[in-house]
Amino acid sequence: MKNIVVLVSGGGTNLQALIDAQESGMITGGKITCVISSKPGVYALERAKNHGIKSRVIARKEYGDVISYSEAILDALKEEKADLVVYAGFMTILDELVVRAYPNRMMNVHPALIPSFCGKGYYGLRVHEEALKKGVKLTGATVHFVTEVCDGGPIILQKAVEIQDDDTPEILQKRVMEQAEWKILPQAVSLFCNDRLEVRNDRVYIKK
Ligand code: GAR
Repeated sequence: MKNIVVLVSGGGTNLQALIDAQESGMITGGKITCVISSKPGVYALERAKNHGIKSRVIARKEYGDVISYSEAILDALKEEKADLVVYAGFMTILDELVVRAYPNRMMNVHPALIPSFCGKGYYGLRVHEEALKKGVKLTGATVHFVTEVCDGGPIILQKAVEIQDDDTPEILQKRVMEQAEWKILPQAVSLFCNDRLEVRNDRVYIKK
């Protein structure tokens, strides 16, 4: 059984999707053992509590710089004996010292089809605002391994979502979550926990 540690910063609907998938038996081979939040008081912490999952707050604002914050996160991940680290709406960029300690063992869900609308500054609602501004007809979500390049790691799963003429960023965000993020994140986690993800030359292959 792999220990899954989920990093959050906000509402935690992706965390909820993981919890629901775990409780319905969709995630096999792993268990969410800890939720770590970069902010106190966020609803994601409530979700963990409601399901009897341990949580910790490592508040970004209590650390002066990215390095000392990253070291604190790394210490916590080691203490929790994390096998897989999932960024589920985790809005803090960590130093590469964390990524280097967990190569191909950290994954992130991003609310667009990478390499569109991704990289530094593209997070949350902002991603959907930019997609609407550009007028793309398709967007979606991507789950990828985390590397030192922001949103640049090997892609595990993607799912496309159609844009409607009357979409607002909020409406689009909700549709992308419902139709894509909440589906592909638990799938990717389960594939990882069953040792079905193989990374070769920066590409992810799903083993049968
Ligand atoms: C999600 O849409 C997630 O993909 C996005 O923030 C939202 C968090 O919602 N993440 C990023 O933009 C990371 N670049 P949640 O807290 O309800 O899961």
